Amino acid sequence: MFRAIFVLLAVFCHVARLQSTATCDLFTFPSTFKFGAGTAAYQIEGGWNEDGKSRSWWDWFTNNYPQYCNNATGNIACDSYHKYKEDVAAMKAIGLEFYRFSLSWSRILPKGFSYSVNQAGVDYYNNLIDELKAAGIEPLVTIYHWDTPMALEYLGTTWTSPKMVDQFVAFADLAFSLFGDRVKLWATINEPKSFCQGIPGYFLTYIFPELPMGTLEYLCGHHVLLAHAKTYRLYQEKYKSTQNGRISITLDLNYNMPLTNSTEDIEAAERRNLFEFGWFAHPLYYGDYPQIMKTVIANNSAKQNFTASRLPKFSCTEKLMIKGSYDLFMVNSYTGTQVTLKEYNNEPSYINDEQTSGTQPDHWLSTAVSNLKVYPEGIRYVLKYIKESYGNPEIMITENGYSDTTGNVNDTLRIEFIRETLGNIRLAICEDGVNVTRYTYWSLLDNLEWARGYGVKFGLVQIDFDSENRTRTLKRSAYYYKNVIQNRYINVTDSTE
Ligand SMILES: *[C@@H]1O[C@H](CO)[C@@H](O)[C@H](O)[C@H]1NC(C)=O
Ligand SMILES: *[C@@H]1O[C@H](CO)[C@@H](O)[C@H](O)[C@H]1NC(C)=O
Ligand SMILES: *[C@@H]1O[C@H](CO)[C@@H](O)[C@H](O)[C@H]1NC(C)=O
Ligand SMILES: *[C@@H]1O[C@H](CO)[C@@H](O)[C@H](O)[C@H]1NC(C)=O
Ligand SMILES: *[C@@H]1O[C@H](CO)[C@@H](O)[C@H](O)[C@H]1NC(C)=O
Ligand SMILES: *[C@@H]1O[C@H](CO)[C@@H](O)[C@H](O)[C@H]1NC(C)=O
Ligand SMILES: *[C@@H]1O[C@H](CO)[C@@H](O)[C@H](O)[C@H]1NC(C)=O
Repeated sequence: MFRAIFVLLAVFCHVARLQSTATCDLFTFPSTFKFGAGTAAYQIEGGWNEDGKSRSWWDWFTNNYPQYCNNATGNIACDSYHKYKEDVAAMKAIGLEFYRFSLSWSRILPKGFSYSVNQAGVDYYNNLIDELKAAGIEPLVTIYHWDTPMALEYLGTTWTSPKMVDQFVAFADLAFSLFGDRVKLWATINEPKSFCQGIPGYFLTYIFPELPMGTLEYLCGHHVLLAHAKTYRLYQEKYKSTQNGRISITLDLNYNMPLTNSTEDIEAAERRNLFEFGWFAHPLYYGDYPQIMKTVIANNSAKQNFTASRLPKFSCTEKLMIKGSYDLFMVNSYTGTQVTLKEYNNEPSYINDEQTSGTQPDHWLSTAVSNLKVYPEGIRYVLKYIKESYGNPEIMITENGYSDTTGNVNDTLRIEFIRETLGNIRLAICEDGVNVTRYTYWSLLDNLEWARGYGVKFGLVQIDFDSENRTRTLKRSAYYYKNVIQNRYINVTDSTE
Protein backbone atom coordinates (compact mmCIF):
# COMPACT_ATOMS: atom_id res chain seq x y z
CA MET A 1 0.00 0.00 0.00
CA PHE A 2 2.82 2.32 1.04
CA ARG A 3 4.59 1.71 -2.27
CA ALA A 4 1.28 2.17 -4.12
CA ILE A 5 0.99 5.69 -2.73
CA PHE A 6 4.42 6.40 -4.07
CA VAL A 7 3.59 5.04 -7.53
CA LEU A 8 0.51 7.27 -7.57
CA LEU A 9 2.63 10.21 -6.48
CA ALA A 10 5.15 9.38 -9.20
CA VAL A 11 2.42 9.29 -11.86
CA PHE A 12 0.99 12.56 -10.59
CA CYS A 13 4.45 14.06 -10.53
CA HIS A 14 5.13 12.90 -14.06
CA VAL A 15 1.95 14.54 -15.32
CA ALA A 16 2.62 17.64 -13.26
CA ARG A 17 6.15 17.80 -14.59
CA LEU A 18 4.92 17.81 -18.18
CA GLN A 19 2.65 20.72 -17.33
CA SER A 20 4.96 22.79 -15.16
CA THR A 21 8.01 24.72 -16.14
CA ALA A 22 10.99 22.70 -17.26
CA THR A 23 13.10 24.27 -14.53
CA CYS A 24 11.21 22.61 -11.66
CA ASP A 25 11.94 18.88 -11.68
CA LEU A 26 9.86 17.10 -9.04
CA PHE A 27 12.52 14.49 -8.33
CA THR A 28 15.63 16.65 -8.28
CA PHE A 29 16.95 18.98 -5.59
CA PRO A 30 19.27 21.85 -6.50
CA SER A 31 22.74 22.00 -4.95
CA THR A 32 21.59 25.03 -2.91
CA PHE A 33 19.17 22.79 -0.97
CA LYS A 34 20.93 21.23 2.04
CA PHE A 35 20.40 17.82 3.62
CA GLY A 36 21.23 17.04 7.25
CA ALA A 37 20.22 15.08 10.33
CA GLY A 38 19.58 16.02 13.93
CA THR A 39 19.90 14.96 17.57
CA ALA A 40 19.39 16.48 21.04
CA ALA A 41 21.98 16.41 23.83
CA TYR A 42 19.96 14.52 26.43
CA GLN A 43 18.90 11.84 23.94
CA ILE A 44 22.44 10.87 22.89
CA GLU A 45 25.26 12.20 25.07
CA GLY A 46 25.29 10.16 28.27
CA GLY A 47 28.19 11.19 30.52
CA TRP A 48 25.45 12.58 32.72
CA ASN A 49 27.65 13.32 35.76
CA GLU A 50 31.10 13.37 34.20
CA ASP A 51 33.76 16.07 34.16
CA GLY A 52 31.76 18.59 36.18
CA LYS A 53 28.37 18.24 34.50
CA SER A 54 25.43 18.63 36.88
CA ARG A 55 21.93 17.21 36.56
CA SER A 56 19.37 18.56 34.18
CA TRP A 57 15.65 18.29 34.74
CA TRP A 58 15.66 15.16 32.55
CA ASP A 59 18.44 13.54 34.62
CA TRP A 60 16.35 14.21 37.70
CA PHE A 61 13.10 12.96 36.16
CA THR A 62 14.38 9.74 34.56
CA ASN A 63 16.48 8.74 37.59
CA ASN A 64 13.80 9.53 40.19
CA TYR A 65 10.65 8.48 38.37
CA PRO A 66 11.59 5.39 36.32
CA GLN A 67 7.95 4.28 36.46
CA TYR A 68 7.05 7.17 34.13
CA CYS A 69 10.07 6.69 31.85
CA ASN A 70 9.92 3.04 30.81
CA ASN A 71 12.78 2.47 33.27
CA ALA A 72 15.12 4.27 30.88
CA THR A 73 17.57 7.10 31.62
CA GLY A 74 20.00 9.10 29.51
CA ASN A 75 22.87 8.27 31.89
CA ILE A 76 24.77 6.55 29.06
CA ALA A 77 22.41 6.80 26.06
CA CYS A 78 24.48 6.58 22.83
CA ASP A 79 27.58 7.61 24.81
CA SER A 80 28.13 10.43 22.31
CA TYR A 81 29.98 12.33 25.06
CA HIS A 82 32.82 9.86 24.41
CA LYS A 83 31.95 8.73 20.90
CA TYR A 84 31.33 11.98 19.06
CA LYS A 85 34.11 11.12 16.62
CA GLU A 86 32.22 7.97 15.66
CA ASP A 87 29.09 10.09 15.20
CA VAL A 88 30.91 12.45 12.86
CA ALA A 89 32.44 9.50 10.99
CA ALA A 90 28.91 8.15 10.42
CA MET A 91 27.73 11.58 9.21
CA LYS A 92 30.67 11.75 6.85
CA ALA A 93 29.90 8.27 5.52
CA ILE A 94 26.33 9.43 4.81
CA GLY A 95 27.57 12.67 3.26
CA LEU A 96 25.50 14.97 5.50
CA GLU A 97 25.85 18.64 4.63
CA PHE A 98 24.89 19.83 8.12
CA TYR A 99 24.27 18.43 11.59
CA ARG A 100 21.71 19.79 14.04
CA PHE A 101 22.63 19.13 17.69
CA SER A 102 21.89 20.82 21.01
CA LEU A 103 23.97 22.13 23.92
CA SER A 104 23.57 20.62 27.37
CA TRP A 105 23.15 23.71 29.57
CA SER A 106 24.15 21.86 32.77
CA ARG A 107 27.32 20.51 31.09
CA ILE A 108 28.47 24.04 30.24
CA LEU A 109 26.99 25.81 33.30
CA PRO A 110 26.65 23.27 36.16
CA LYS A 111 25.28 25.96 38.49
CA GLY A 112 22.87 27.14 35.83
CA PHE A 113 24.25 30.68 36.06
CA SER A 114 26.77 31.94 33.52
CA TYR A 115 29.34 33.04 36.11
CA SER A 116 30.56 29.46 36.60
CA VAL A 117 31.69 27.91 33.32
CA ASN A 118 32.71 24.25 33.16
CA GLN A 119 35.69 24.17 30.80
CA ALA A 120 35.35 20.41 30.15
CA GLY A 121 31.83 21.02 28.83
CA VAL A 122 33.02 23.84 26.61
CA ASP A 123 35.86 21.61 25.35
CA TYR A 124 33.38 18.89 24.42
CA TYR A 125 31.40 21.18 22.12
CA ASN A 126 34.54 22.81 20.71
CA ASN A 127 35.86 19.36 19.85
CA LEU A 128 32.56 18.32 18.27
CA ILE A 129 32.32 21.51 16.20
CA ASP A 130 35.95 21.23 15.08
CA GLU A 131 35.46 17.58 14.14
CA LEU A 132 32.39 18.57 12.08
CA LYS A 133 34.20 21.43 10.34
CA ALA A 134 37.12 19.13 9.50
CA ALA A 135 34.63 16.73 7.90
CA GLY A 136 33.01 19.54 5.92
CA ILE A 137 29.74 19.32 7.89
CA GLU A 138 28.08 22.58 8.95
CA PRO A 139 26.83 22.82 12.55
CA LEU A 140 23.25 23.97 13.25
CA VAL A 141 23.07 24.45 17.01
CA THR A 142 19.96 24.30 19.19
CA ILE A 143 20.71 26.25 22.35
CA TYR A 144 17.90 24.71 24.42
CA HIS A 145 16.41 21.29 23.78
CA TRP A 146 14.44 20.74 27.01
CA ASP A 147 17.24 19.99 29.52
CA THR A 148 17.01 22.85 32.02
CA PRO A 149 19.72 22.67 34.74
CA MET A 150 18.23 21.22 37.94
CA ALA A 151 20.13 23.96 39.83
CA LEU A 152 17.79 26.50 38.22
CA GLU A 153 14.68 24.37 38.65
CA TYR A 154 15.30 24.20 42.42
CA LEU A 155 15.26 28.01 42.51
CA GLY A 156 12.00 28.13 40.61
CA THR A 157 13.85 29.48 37.59
CA THR A 158 12.04 27.62 34.88
CA TRP A 159 9.89 28.62 31.92
CA THR A 160 6.89 29.59 34.07
CA SER A 161 9.02 32.29 35.71
CA PRO A 162 10.17 35.65 34.27
CA LYS A 163 13.53 34.91 35.94
CA MET A 164 14.14 32.29 33.23
CA VAL A 165 14.28 34.90 30.47
CA ASP A 166 17.54 36.51 31.56
CA GLN A 167 19.12 33.18 32.53
CA PHE A 168 18.44 31.87 29.04
CA VAL A 169 19.72 35.03 27.38
CA ALA A 170 22.93 34.81 29.46
CA PHE A 171 23.44 31.18 28.41
CA ALA A 172 22.82 32.03 24.74
CA ASP A 173 25.19 35.01 24.99
CA LEU A 174 27.89 32.67 26.30
CA ALA A 175 27.17 30.16 23.51
CA PHE A 176 27.54 32.87 20.84
CA SER A 177 30.80 34.08 22.38
CA LEU A 178 32.24 30.54 22.63
CA PHE A 179 31.05 28.95 19.40
CA GLY A 180 29.74 31.74 17.15
CA ASP A 181 33.02 32.03 15.24
CA ARG A 182 32.20 28.62 13.69
CA VAL A 183 28.42 28.29 14.16
CA LYS A 184 26.37 30.36 11.71
CA LEU A 185 22.92 28.84 12.20
CA TRP A 186 21.19 28.89 15.58
CA ALA A 187 17.87 27.58 16.87
CA THR A 188 17.23 29.21 20.24
CA ILE A 189 14.57 26.89 21.71
CA ASN A 190 13.11 23.61 20.49
CA GLU A 191 9.36 22.99 20.19
CA PRO A 192 7.97 25.26 22.92
CA LYS A 193 4.47 24.03 22.10
CA SER A 194 5.51 20.50 23.08
CA PHE A 195 7.10 21.26 26.41
CA CYS A 196 4.89 24.19 27.46
CA GLN A 197 1.77 22.21 26.80
CA GLY A 198 2.95 19.51 29.19
CA ILE A 199 4.06 16.92 26.67
CA PRO A 200 6.37 15.08 27.11
CA GLY A 201 5.77 15.62 30.77
CA TYR A 202 7.41 18.90 31.69
CA PHE A 203 4.49 19.75 33.98
CA LEU A 204 4.06 16.56 35.96
CA THR A 205 0.45 16.72 37.07
CA TYR A 206 0.54 13.01 37.88
CA ILE A 207 3.26 13.72 40.46
CA PHE A 208 2.28 17.25 41.48
CA PRO A 209 -1.51 17.55 41.11
CA GLU A 210 -1.44 21.06 42.63
CA LEU A 211 0.12 22.50 39.46
CA PRO A 212 -2.20 25.20 38.10
CA MET A 213 -2.80 23.94 34.60
CA GLY A 214 -4.40 26.37 32.20
CA THR A 215 -2.00 29.00 33.56
CA LEU A 216 1.41 27.30 33.41
CA GLU A 217 1.23 26.53 29.69
CA TYR A 218 0.74 30.18 28.75
CA LEU A 219 3.31 31.54 31.23
CA CYS A 220 5.79 29.07 29.75
CA GLY A 221 5.05 30.13 26.18
CA HIS A 222 5.18 33.81 27.15
CA HIS A 223 8.66 33.55 28.67
CA VAL A 224 9.90 31.40 25.79
CA LEU A 225 8.89 34.15 23.36
CA LEU A 226 10.52 36.86 25.49
CA ALA A 227 13.72 34.81 25.93
CA HIS A 228 13.91 34.02 22.23
CA ALA A 229 13.30 37.61 21.13
CA LYS A 230 15.72 39.09 23.66
CA THR A 231 18.36 36.60 22.49
CA TYR A 232 17.73 37.53 18.86
CA ARG A 233 18.09 41.25 19.63
CA LEU A 234 21.25 40.63 21.66
CA TYR A 235 22.81 38.76 18.74
CA GLN A 236 21.97 41.58 16.33
CA GLU A 237 23.63 44.14 18.58
CA LYS A 238 26.60 42.22 19.88
CA TYR A 239 27.53 39.52 17.36
CA LYS A 240 25.85 39.95 13.97
CA SER A 241 28.42 42.31 12.47
CA THR A 242 31.34 40.02 13.30
CA GLN A 243 29.77 36.53 13.25
CA ASN A 244 27.07 37.08 10.63
CA GLY A 245 24.98 34.06 11.67
CA ARG A 246 21.24 33.48 11.34
CA ILE A 247 18.76 32.73 14.13
CA SER A 248 15.32 31.26 14.52
CA ILE A 249 13.27 29.12 16.91
CA THR A 250 12.13 25.60 16.00
CA LEU A 251 8.34 25.35 16.10
CA ASP A 252 6.40 22.15 15.50
CA LEU A 253 3.29 21.63 13.45
CA ASN A 254 1.68 18.47 12.15
CA TYR A 255 -0.90 19.17 9.45
CA ASN A 256 -4.36 19.69 10.93
CA MET A 257 -7.17 18.82 8.55
CA PRO A 258 -10.89 18.87 9.41
CA LEU A 259 -12.33 15.40 10.01
CA THR A 260 -15.49 16.31 8.09
CA ASN A 261 -16.56 19.33 6.08
CA SER A 262 -18.77 20.59 8.88
CA THR A 263 -18.22 24.21 9.92
CA GLU A 264 -17.34 23.03 13.44
CA ASP A 265 -14.56 20.76 12.20
CA ILE A 266 -13.18 23.29 9.72
CA GLU A 267 -13.05 25.89 12.50
CA ALA A 268 -11.58 23.35 14.91
CA ALA A 269 -8.72 22.50 12.52
CA GLU A 270 -7.86 26.17 12.04
CA ARG A 271 -8.18 26.86 15.79
CA ARG A 272 -5.75 24.01 16.41
CA ASN A 273 -3.24 25.47 13.90
CA LEU A 274 -3.46 28.79 15.73
CA PHE A 275 -3.16 27.29 19.22
CA GLU A 276 -0.29 24.98 18.24
CA PHE A 277 1.71 27.12 15.82
CA GLY A 278 0.18 30.61 15.80
CA TRP A 279 0.77 30.72 19.58
CA PHE A 280 4.44 31.38 18.73
CA ALA A 281 4.42 32.27 15.03
CA HIS A 282 1.85 35.08 15.35
CA PRO A 283 3.87 37.04 17.94
CA LEU A 284 7.00 36.55 15.81
CA TYR A 285 5.27 37.74 12.64
CA TYR A 286 2.52 40.10 13.88
CA GLY A 287 3.77 41.01 17.38
CA ASP A 288 0.96 39.40 19.38
CA TYR A 289 -0.98 36.18 20.05
CA PRO A 290 -3.70 35.10 17.60
CA GLN A 291 -7.00 36.88 18.23
CA ILE A 292 -8.80 33.58 18.75
CA MET A 293 -6.47 32.63 21.61
CA LYS A 294 -6.99 36.02 23.25
CA THR A 295 -10.79 35.77 22.94
CA VAL A 296 -11.26 32.12 23.89
CA ILE A 297 -8.88 32.16 26.85
CA ALA A 298 -10.29 35.46 28.22
CA ASN A 299 -13.80 34.12 27.86
CA ASN A 300 -13.03 30.76 29.49
CA SER A 301 -11.05 32.45 32.28
CA ALA A 302 -14.08 34.64 33.09
CA LYS A 303 -16.35 31.60 33.19
CA GLN A 304 -13.88 29.97 35.59
CA ASN A 305 -13.96 33.06 37.86
CA PHE A 306 -10.36 34.15 37.19
CA THR A 307 -10.06 37.90 37.67
CA ALA A 308 -7.91 38.22 34.53
CA SER A 309 -7.25 36.14 31.43
CA ARG A 310 -4.94 33.20 31.96
CA LEU A 311 -3.13 34.28 28.77
CA PRO A 312 -0.52 36.92 29.74
CA LYS A 313 -0.29 40.17 27.79
CA PHE A 314 2.76 41.67 26.10
CA SER A 315 3.61 45.32 26.69
CA CYS A 316 4.07 47.55 23.63
CA THR A 317 7.85 47.38 24.00
CA GLU A 318 7.75 43.62 24.23
CA LYS A 319 5.59 43.37 21.12
CA LEU A 320 8.11 45.44 19.18
CA MET A 321 10.96 43.30 20.48
CA ILE A 322 9.25 40.03 19.49
CA LYS A 323 7.89 41.08 16.12
CA GLY A 324 10.37 40.14 13.40
CA SER A 325 12.83 38.46 15.76
CA TYR A 326 13.82 35.72 13.30
CA ASP A 327 15.82 35.37 10.12
CA LEU A 328 13.82 32.45 8.76
CA PHE A 329 11.27 29.85 9.92
CA MET A 330 12.33 26.47 11.32
CA VAL A 331 9.66 23.79 11.52
CA ASN A 332 9.49 20.24 12.87
CA SER A 333 6.77 18.19 11.19
CA TYR A 334 6.04 14.46 11.24
CA THR A 335 2.47 13.67 10.28
CA GLY A 336 -1.10 14.91 9.97
CA THR A 337 -4.18 14.85 12.19
CA GLN A 338 -7.90 14.77 11.47
CA VAL A 339 -9.43 17.34 13.77
CA THR A 340 -12.89 17.66 15.23
CA LEU A 341 -14.63 19.92 17.75
CA LYS A 342 -14.40 18.58 21.32
CA GLU A 343 -17.13 19.08 23.87
CA TYR A 344 -16.51 22.09 26.17
CA ASN A 345 -14.84 21.25 29.48
CA ASN A 346 -14.69 24.00 32.13
CA GLU A 347 -11.48 22.70 33.80
CA PRO A 348 -8.77 25.29 33.06
CA SER A 349 -6.16 23.91 30.64
CA TYR A 350 -4.59 24.66 27.28
CA ILE A 351 -6.14 21.47 25.91
CA ASN A 352 -9.64 22.51 27.00
CA ASP A 353 -9.13 26.03 25.66
CA GLU A 354 -8.14 24.61 22.27
CA GLN A 355 -11.26 22.44 22.39
CA THR A 356 -10.34 20.02 19.61
CA SER A 357 -9.58 16.36 19.40
CA GLY A 358 -7.47 14.64 16.79
CA THR A 359 -7.43 11.18 15.26
CA GLN A 360 -5.65 9.39 12.47
CA PRO A 361 -7.35 6.95 10.10
CA ASP A 362 -6.78 3.19 10.48
CA HIS A 363 -5.37 2.91 6.97
CA TRP A 364 -2.37 5.15 7.70
CA LEU A 365 0.68 3.04 8.43
CA SER A 366 1.56 2.87 12.14
CA THR A 367 4.96 3.79 13.53
CA ALA A 368 6.48 3.23 16.97
CA VAL A 369 4.70 6.36 18.26
CA SER A 370 0.93 5.94 18.33
CA ASN A 371 -0.02 9.44 17.14
CA LEU A 372 2.73 9.70 14.52
CA LYS A 373 1.25 7.52 11.79
CA VAL A 374 2.67 7.89 8.29
CA TYR A 375 1.19 10.80 6.32
CA PRO A 376 3.98 12.15 4.08
CA GLU A 377 1.64 14.66 2.38
CA GLY A 378 1.33 16.50 5.70
CA ILE A 379 4.63 18.28 5.34
CA ARG A 380 3.62 19.79 2.00
CA TYR A 381 0.49 21.33 3.52
CA VAL A 382 2.40 22.56 6.58
CA LEU A 383 4.93 24.31 4.33
CA LYS A 384 2.14 25.85 2.24
CA TYR A 385 0.30 26.94 5.40
CA ILE A 386 3.40 28.71 6.74
CA LYS A 387 4.03 30.38 3.39
CA GLU A 388 0.48 31.69 3.18
CA SER A 389 0.09 32.67 6.85
CA TYR A 390 3.47 34.27 7.54
CA GLY A 391 4.55 36.24 4.49
CA ASN A 392 6.38 33.58 2.46
CA PRO A 393 9.47 33.26 4.66
CA GLU A 394 12.47 31.05 3.99
CA ILE A 395 11.73 27.74 5.77
CA MET A 396 14.07 25.04 7.05
CA ILE A 397 12.64 21.67 8.04
CA THR A 398 14.51 21.02 11.28
CA GLU A 399 12.90 17.65 12.12
CA ASN A 400 11.05 14.93 10.23
CA GLY A 401 11.42 11.18 10.58
CA TYR A 402 10.03 7.69 10.88
CA SER A 403 10.28 5.41 13.92
CA ASP A 404 10.07 1.65 14.30
CA THR A 405 10.50 -0.59 17.32
CA THR A 406 13.17 -2.94 15.92
CA GLY A 407 16.08 -0.74 14.89
CA ASN A 408 16.62 -3.28 12.11
CA VAL A 409 19.22 -2.16 9.55
CA ASN A 410 16.98 -3.37 6.70
CA ASP A 411 14.59 -0.45 7.17
CA THR A 412 12.62 -0.44 3.93
CA LEU A 413 9.73 1.53 5.40
CA ARG A 414 12.02 4.35 6.53
CA ILE A 415 13.43 4.60 2.99
CA GLU A 416 9.90 4.85 1.55
CA PHE A 417 8.99 7.43 4.19
CA ILE A 418 11.96 9.65 3.32
CA ARG A 419 11.38 9.24 -0.43
CA GLU A 420 7.71 10.18 -0.19
CA THR A 421 8.46 13.07 2.17
CA LEU A 422 11.10 14.50 -0.15
CA GLY A 423 8.65 14.11 -3.05
CA ASN A 424 6.12 16.18 -1.15
CA ILE A 425 8.76 18.81 -0.36
CA ARG A 426 9.48 19.07 -4.09
CA LEU A 427 5.75 19.53 -4.70
CA ALA A 428 5.71 22.33 -2.10
CA ILE A 429 8.62 24.01 -3.88
CA CYS A 430 7.48 23.46 -7.47
CA GLU A 431 3.69 23.62 -7.24
CA ASP A 432 3.16 25.85 -4.20
CA GLY A 433 6.21 28.11 -4.52
CA VAL A 434 7.39 27.56 -0.94
CA ASN A 435 10.95 28.71 -0.22
CA VAL A 436 12.17 25.67 1.71
CA THR A 437 15.94 25.39 1.81
CA ARG A 438 16.89 22.53 4.16
CA TYR A 439 15.74 19.10 5.26
CA THR A 440 16.83 17.63 8.60
CA TYR A 441 16.13 13.94 9.09
CA TRP A 442 15.31 13.08 12.71
CA SER A 443 17.31 11.37 14.00
CA LEU A 444 20.89 10.60 13.10
CA LEU A 445 21.03 7.87 15.77
CA ASP A 446 18.64 5.50 17.49
CA ASN A 447 18.49 7.11 20.92
CA LEU A 448 16.54 7.79 24.12
CA GLU A 449 13.08 8.86 22.96
CA TRP A 450 12.50 10.89 26.15
CA ALA A 451 10.01 9.24 28.53
CA ARG A 452 9.26 6.55 25.93
CA GLY A 453 12.71 5.08 26.43
CA TYR A 454 14.84 3.16 23.94
CA GLY A 455 12.06 1.20 22.24
CA VAL A 456 11.25 3.96 19.73
CA LYS A 457 13.93 4.04 17.05
CA PHE A 458 14.14 6.96 14.61
CA GLY A 459 17.80 6.56 13.55
CA LEU A 460 19.55 6.37 10.21
CA VAL A 461 22.25 4.72 12.31
CA GLN A 462 21.60 1.74 14.58
CA ILE A 463 23.11 1.71 18.06
CA ASP A 464 23.81 -1.56 19.83
CA PHE A 465 22.56 -0.61 23.31
CA ASP A 466 23.53 -4.07 24.63
CA SER A 467 27.20 -3.44 23.96
CA GLU A 468 29.19 -1.08 26.13
CA ASN A 469 30.79 0.09 22.87
CA ARG A 470 27.40 1.33 21.66
CA THR A 471 28.46 0.12 18.20
CA ARG A 472 27.17 2.29 15.35
CA THR A 473 25.91 0.61 12.16
CA LEU A 474 24.53 2.47 9.15
CA LYS A 475 21.05 1.28 8.18
CA ARG A 476 19.92 0.86 4.57
CA SER A 477 18.10 4.20 4.91
CA ALA A 478 21.47 5.85 5.58
CA TYR A 479 22.78 4.52 2.26
CA TYR A 480 19.61 5.62 0.48
CA TYR A 481 19.97 9.11 2.02
CA LYS A 482 23.64 9.16 1.03
CA ASN A 483 22.73 8.49 -2.60
CA VAL A 484 20.00 11.14 -2.51
CA ILE A 485 22.50 13.70 -1.23
CA GLN A 486 25.16 12.70 -3.73
CA ASN A 487 22.83 12.65 -6.75
CA ARG A 488 20.36 15.36 -5.59
CA TYR A 489 17.76 12.87 -6.87
CA ILE A 490 15.15 11.01 -4.81
CA ASN A 491 14.55 7.90 -6.91
CA VAL A 492 17.93 6.39 -6.16
CA THR A 493 18.51 2.93 -4.73
CA ASP A 494 19.86 2.19 -1.28
CA SER A 495 22.89 0.52 -2.86
CA THR A 496 25.99 0.74 -0.71
CA GLU A 497 28.24 1.06 -3.78
C1 LIG B 1 10.44 -1.11 35.65
O1 LIG B 1 11.15 -1.93 36.56
C2 LIG B 1 10.34 -2.39 37.63
C3 LIG B 1 11.24 -3.10 38.64
O2 LIG B 1 12.10 -3.99 37.98
C4 LIG B 1 9.26 -3.30 37.06
O3 LIG B 1 8.42 -3.77 38.10
C5 LIG B 1 8.42 -2.50 36.06
O4 LIG B 1 7.48 -3.34 35.44
C6 LIG B 1 9.29 -1.85 35.01
N1 LIG B 1 8.48 -0.94 34.23
C7 LIG B 1 8.57 -0.82 32.93
C8 LIG B 1 7.64 0.18 32.28
O5 LIG B 1 9.35 -1.46 32.26
C1 LIG C 1 -14.70 18.25 1.83
O1 LIG C 1 -15.02 18.93 0.63
C2 LIG C 1 -14.01 18.86 -0.36
C3 LIG C 1 -14.41 19.77 -1.50
O2 LIG C 1 -15.75 19.57 -1.84
C4 LIG C 1 -13.84 17.41 -0.78
O3 LIG C 1 -12.83 17.31 -1.74
C5 LIG C 1 -13.43 16.60 0.45
O4 LIG C 1 -13.33 15.23 0.11
C6 LIG C 1 -14.42 16.79 1.56
N1 LIG C 1 -13.87 16.19 2.75
C7 LIG C 1 -14.54 15.39 3.56
C8 LIG C 1 -13.82 14.87 4.75
O5 LIG C 1 -15.71 15.10 3.35
C1 LIG D 1 -17.98 33.17 25.47
O1 LIG D 1 -18.66 32.21 26.26
C2 LIG D 1 -20.06 32.26 26.12
C3 LIG D 1 -20.67 31.28 27.12
O2 LIG D 1 -20.18 29.99 26.91
C4 LIG D 1 -20.44 31.94 24.69
O3 LIG D 1 -21.80 32.00 24.53
C5 LIG D 1 -19.74 32.93 23.78
O4 LIG D 1 -19.99 32.59 22.44
C6 LIG D 1 -18.26 32.96 24.00
N1 LIG D 1 -17.64 33.97 23.22
C7 LIG D 1 -16.56 33.77 22.51
C8 LIG D 1 -16.07 34.92 21.74
O5 LIG D 1 -15.96 32.69 22.50
C1 LIG E 1 -17.99 31.21 39.70
O1 LIG E 1 -18.69 32.04 40.58
C2 LIG E 1 -20.09 31.86 40.51
C3 LIG E 1 -20.75 32.91 41.37
O2 LIG E 1 -20.14 32.93 42.65
C4 LIG E 1 -20.43 30.45 40.95
O3 LIG E 1 -21.82 30.24 40.85
C5 LIG E 1 -19.72 29.46 40.03
O4 LIG E 1 -19.93 28.13 40.48
C6 LIG E 1 -18.24 29.73 39.99
N1 LIG E 1 -17.62 28.91 38.96
C7 LIG E 1 -16.48 28.23 39.13
C8 LIG E 1 -15.98 27.42 37.99
O5 LIG E 1 -15.86 28.27 40.18
C1 LIG F 1 14.59 31.99 -0.38
O1 LIG F 1 15.06 32.72 0.72
C2 LIG F 1 16.43 33.09 0.61
C3 LIG F 1 16.83 33.75 1.90
O2 LIG F 1 15.96 34.80 2.20
C4 LIG F 1 16.60 34.02 -0.59
O3 LIG F 1 17.97 34.34 -0.73
C5 LIG F 1 16.13 33.30 -1.83
O4 LIG F 1 16.18 34.18 -2.93
C6 LIG F 1 14.71 32.82 -1.65
N1 LIG F 1 14.35 31.99 -2.78
C7 LIG F 1 13.19 32.09 -3.38
C8 LIG F 1 12.95 31.15 -4.52
O5 LIG F 1 12.35 32.91 -3.05
C1 LIG G 1 14.87 -6.25 3.44
O1 LIG G 1 13.48 -6.27 3.65
C2 LIG G 1 12.72 -6.41 2.47
C3 LIG G 1 11.26 -6.38 2.84
O2 LIG G 1 10.99 -5.39 3.75
C4 LIG G 1 13.07 -7.73 1.78
O3 LIG G 1 12.37 -7.81 0.57
C5 LIG G 1 14.56 -7.79 1.53
O4 LIG G 1 14.90 -9.06 1.04
C6 LIG G 1 15.34 -7.53 2.80
N1 LIG G 1 16.76 -7.42 2.49
C7 LIG G 1 17.69 -8.05 3.19
C8 LIG G 1 19.09 -7.83 2.77
O5 LIG G 1 17.41 -8.75 4.15
C1 LIG H 1 34.68 -2.77 22.16
O1 LIG H 1 35.71 -2.02 21.54
C2 LIG H 1 37.01 -2.44 21.93
C3 LIG H 1 38.00 -1.48 21.33
O2 LIG H 1 37.77 -1.30 19.97
C4 LIG H 1 37.23 -3.89 21.46
O3 LIG H 1 38.48 -4.34 21.89
C5 LIG H 1 36.15 -4.77 22.08
O4 LIG H 1 36.23 -6.07 21.58
C6 LIG H 1 34.76 -4.22 21.79
N1 LIG H 1 33.77 -4.97 22.54
C7 LIG H 1 32.65 -5.42 21.99
C8 LIG H 1 31.74 -6.17 22.92
O5 LIG H 1 32.37 -5.27 20.81
